[in-house]
Amino acid sequence: MKEFKRYLVTSALPYANGPLHIGHLAGAYLSADVYVRFMRLMGKDIVYICGSDEHGAAITMRALKDGSTPREVVDKYHALFEDTFKKVGISFDIYHRTSDPLHHETSQEIFRTMYNKGLFTEESSEQLYDPEVNQFLADRYVRGTCPKCSNPEAYGDQCENCGSSLSPMELIHPRSVLSGATPIVKETKHWYLPLDQHEAWLREWIEEGTFEGEFSHYPDEWKNHVLGQCKSWLDGGLQPRAMTRDLDWGVDVPHDIPGHEGKKLYVWMDAPIGYISATRQWAKDNKKKWEKYWKDEECQLVHFIGKDNIVFHCLIFPAILKSAGEFILPYNVPANQFMNLEGNKISTSRNWAVWVHEYLEELPDKVDELRYCMIKNMPELKDTEFTWKSWQDANNNELVANLANFVNRVVVLTNKYYEGKVPVFDEDLTFTGSNGEEYEFFESEMLTLHDDLQELCEYVRKFDFRSGLKTLMDISTKGNQLLQYNEPWKLVKEDPESVKLIMNVALQYVCALGLASRLFMPGTSDKIQALLNLKPFTEKGELLKALDKLSEGEVLLKAKHKIGEPLHLFSRIDDSVVEAQIAKLKAPQEQASTSSSEKKFKPMKEEITYDDFVKMDMRVATILTAKKVEKADKLLELTLDLGFEQRTVVSGIALYHKPEDIIGKKVTILANLAPRKIKGIESKGMILMSENEDGVLNFVAAPEGAENGALIS
Ligand code: 2FM
Ligand code: ZN
Repeated sequence: MKEFKRYLVTSALPYANGPLHIGHLAGAYLSADVYVRFMRLMGKDIVYICGSDEHGAAITMRALKDGSTPREVVDKYHALFEDTFKKVGISFDIYHRTSDPLHHETSQEIFRTMYNKGLFTEESSEQLYDPEVNQFLADRYVRGTCPKCSNPEAYGDQCENCGSSLSPMELIHPRSVLSGATPIVKETKHWYLPLDQHEAWLREWIEEGTFEGEFSHYPDEWKNHVLGQCKSWLDGGLQPRAMTRDLDWGVDVPHDIPGHEGKKLYVWMDAPIGYISATRQWAKDNKKKWEKYWKDEECQLVHFIGKDNIVFHCLIFPAILKSAGEFILPYNVPANQFMNLEGNKISTSRNWAVWVHEYLEELPDKVDELRYCMIKNMPELKDTEFTWKSWQDANNNELVANLANFVNRVVVLTNKYYEGKVPVFDEDLTFTGSNGEEYEFFESEMLTLHDDLQELCEYVRKFDFRSGLKTLMDISTKGNQLLQYNEPWKLVKEDPESVKLIMNVALQYVCALGLASRLFMPGTSDKIQALLNLKPFTEKGELLKALDKLSEGEVLLKAKHKIGEPLHLFSRIDDSVVEAQIAKLKAPQEQASTSSSEKKFKPMKEEITYDDFVKMDMRVATILTAKKVEKADKLLELTLDLGFEQRTVVSGIALYHKPEDIIGKKVTILANLAPRKIKGIESKGMILMSENEDGVLNFVAAPEGAENGALIS
């Protein structure tokens, strides 16, 4: 285990294009927060960086959908993120944003350095371009028919119907989302990061953990799925990747670079540089040197991300850092997998999500309950699932029944028996163990407590936060067993001296829990501190000091210290709360499915008899002529050939069919419908049409080979 002088932790910069859901929290924020709080409690010099990712098509698409501007979008969501993260207790040292001028400056400096070193290649490529709004179209700005499944609404990068990855050029009948125009193909020049030239050192760095022959990190400390993804990219061969785009929202390519006009940095180039600009801002605000965290081998850099960001943080950003020069590379990238919700993948577009800001509005006093449930279920190695029932169970069966119950009993009994003072016990007292031998009960309990805390630390150091949390709860279980086994409430009369000893031990447990819960549930930790009447935490090495004390056989809570009054740490959650949340989650889906089935299937008409049916005379006919009816947008005047006669029919299909397209078409008509005058034209009969979900009318096809006038029955 290599010790570092400084630590730099980042969480993926969330796109400021929509609110945060619990999947985000479980993916990249709670994990980092636990690690950072732990490191602070161990007395480390650590900086925790994050901010909003405010560029790229994700933002401009949102603005387009909302009818607002990118600036309005990012301002709105940046403010929401700041508030949400604060309320959830994510303890960033700085929460920055990529629209900040310092970020533009930092990204441009790095781009310019790479350009001046000749580390980009320039390549021309053909891109789709909207000739009406004079703009190149990002993949998502092109829609059309999927070549695989014929879905007419596929995006330029993906078809949401069949899941195929696409490129905009593959779409059939492509159209621009901006104007509806058919895009044209136009050549454009961009600066590329030649990742193929970085492949060899990236492979060595990832697989061997060495960089330019020097130790960089221990690959076996990286998660398997992270290594696996990196290796599969490397094995597939890395391709040059464009680092610029033709856009009007983002960081400008530096203006001193020829050909910069209209070009912006690719969002995946500027976003990770956001970590650097945020550190620069933090250093400015705190009178520190940012280079000590980014350009010094004595600093450990760890990126917390979700699995969809692995390639950017393990291959592309390191290639940028190496090209820019002097920067350190990440020591670890402990990416998490995904958290599903109630049996399905979280989906923003389908609104299948628990939005964190809504949770906080509806359940404002249940922040640690959420943190606990998320950490307990953190998708560290594989996808996991959040259910409201599991949230309720974790609260009722673990937080209430175990942790709150133990802490409460100890505080109540201490107040009851010792006027709230940590009891002084007779140090000569010995206990008899299950093997019949006498032993030093207090010392042995303190050592166990020390070892348990140490074990918790080891888990957290290895990014195994679930096991760390489990160890915390195991300490509480042991505390409960101590009370359950010795029953101080019974023993207090017959053996008051032993009870003092047991209660002293129990109070040390509570103190340790107060300290260690800080990593996972800071609000609960504050409450336990208050219950014990201890100073609020400063998070500067308190856990390290506690471990030292316990290893020396010293107590955490001194005898005669006066504790506070009991208060409830957690309370039971009723079924009604769970039911309401599940109903809320499902409501939009049910509404959508009802309205789509209403849209799809019109209600059945009244029943008719066979006699009613046989009265209808339906025949095959061919459209001979077709023309628009004056002053009637929807109507066409048609001449039909019924074999035995020709007749005129007025039909309301003009919005969907052009006259020139339907001449010669074989159709079916209801021929014995009483004639009607429509816009002064006598219409004899009605063409049979079917209406699709969107109200589009299509001809009911005539049977193949049927002649004009053939009867349909
Ligand atoms: O996937 C995302 O949400 C990106 N906005 C993450 C960026 S992480 C970093 F590079 F900034
Ligand atoms: Zn498809």
